[in-house]
Amino acid sequence: MSMKHFAVAVDGPSGAGKSSLARSVARELGITYADTGAIYRSIGLAALRRGVDPHDAAAVEGMLPELSIRMEHSEDGEQRMYLDGEDVSGDIRLPEVSMYASAVSALPAVRTFLLEMQRRLAREQSVIMDGRDIGTVVLPEAEVKIYLTAAAEERARRRCLELEQRGTPRPFDEVLAELKERDWNDMHRDVAPLRQAEDAILADTTSLDFAQSKTLLLNIIREKLGL
Ligand code: DC
Repeated sequence: MSMKHFAVAVDGPSGAGKSSLARSVARELGITYADTGAIYRSIGLAALRRGVDPHDAAAVEGMLPELSIRMEHSEDGEQRMYLDGEDVSGDIRLPEVSMYASAVSALPAVRTFLLEMQRRLAREQSVIMDGRDIGTVVLPEAEVKIYLTAAAEERARRRCLELEQRGTPRPFDEVLAELKERDWNDMHRDVAPLRQAEDAILADTTSLDFAQSKTLLLNIIREKLGL
C-alpha cells in the first residue's frame, strides 16, 4: 500500500483498548504507533519518585525543567520511554503510576511541556497516536480522528482479565471504581479534557472482540484516506 504522510488520532477513556488496537493497526499499515499516555505516565513516575504531590501545580511545574523525557520508536514499532536517561517503559505501567499520571495530566504546564514533543513526532512520520486530546488539541488537522470507547463495566472486565493473565488479579469493583474515577478526572479537567472531537468518528467496542474492533478501525481509516 503506498501512502502519503498522514496522522490518525485515537482518543477515548482508559481501558477502551486504544493502545493494543492502535499498535496492531500501526503494524498493519506500516506506520508508527505513538502512545501519548506513556509520556504523562513518565511525568507521573518522576513525581512519585521524587515525593512530589501530583496535584501541587507549583511543585510539579518546578520539577519539569529538571526532567529529560525521551520517547523512542524501534524498527519493530515498540515505543520505549526514557526518564533522565533511564528506560522506564516497565515502571510507568505500575498501578500506582496511573493516578499520578491522571493528576499531573490535568496541569496546564505539563500539557504545554509535552505538546511540541507529540507534534514533532507526527510531523516527522505517519502516525497513529492515542491519548485523550489528540484529535482536539495535539493534532487538530489529523486526517483521521477516532473516538474509541466501550461501556465502563466492559472496560473494567477487560482490565481484570489482563491483570489476571499477568498474575496480579484485583477485585472487579475496585478496578471499576478506579476506572470511573480516572474517566471523571480526564473528562472534567479544565485543560484539554477528554471529549470527542466534532469531526471524530465514534467507535464503540462494547460488544466487539479484538479482531472485530481492529477491522472496524482499519475500515474507518481506509475509508477516510481513500485507500
Ligand atoms: O492512556 P493512559 O492510561 O496510559 O494515560 C495515562 C493518563 O494520562 C490518563 O489518566 C490521562 C492522561 N493522558 C492525557 O491527559 N492526555 C493524553 N493525550 C494521554 C494521556
